[in-house]
Amino acid sequence: MDDKAPARPSRRAVLQAGAATGLLVASGVPTMVREALATHAVPDTASSLPTRPVTLRINAAMYELSLDPRTTLLDALRHQIGLTGSKKGCDHGQCGACTILVNGRRINACLTLAVMHEDDDITTIEGLASGDTLHPMQAAFIARDGFQCGYCTPGQICSAVGMLQEVRAGWPSHASQDVAAPMARLTDVEIRERMSGNICRCAAYPNIVAAIHDVAQEA
Ligand code: FES
Ligand code: FES
Repeated sequence: MDDKAPARPSRRAVLQAGAATGLLVASGVPTMVREALATHAVPDTASSLPTRPVTLRINAAMYELSLDPRTTLLDALRHQIGLTGSKKGCDHGQCGACTILVNGRRINACLTLAVMHEDDDITTIEGLASGDTLHPMQAAFIARDGFQCGYCTPGQICSAVGMLQEVRAGWPSHASQDVAAPMARLTDVEIRERMSGNICRCAAYPNIVAAIHDVAQEA
């Protein structure tokens, strides 16, 4: 064999290289990405993200967390604390499945960062009942069959609780005939408008409205 001739790859090495290339081509990975993958390891950034301590008061309990400051309140509730009652539907403020109460006001937990709520009083669906006694809105949803699959229900209930507080405080809605006058009666139209941020894909709306009426009348 000629010492100056380049070493020939073994048959096994050629077959292995061909199989690896074939896999990348078959997977539809663009050429530049294939080349990068062949020469560079993808760094594991997930474990090196900076975190900061965050203390949250949720359902009258304190939680001390270490969070990436970009963590939404919804992800902190669900993934860090394990309060999975608040649901993630759209994750960008369109469905209302993540509605919770912060200082008594309803908000979308997917649209706010956990670090912004260190001094707040946060209530989720898990915190509405008193021991074994359901919140009146929870009981009304059951009595009126205000759900089918139930995915939107925690958000609907928290939203309804916050909405009735807004009504009691005299806040008008887009459906109010006279925004300066106190509301004489909470009509179906008012309820539907005020709850329009909470979508129900099962379309349980008539029963949701009936449940909210029940609680409004009791109050
Ligand atoms: S998950 Fe927050 S509004 Fe849809
Ligand atoms: S009960 Fe199924 S989405 Fe509302």
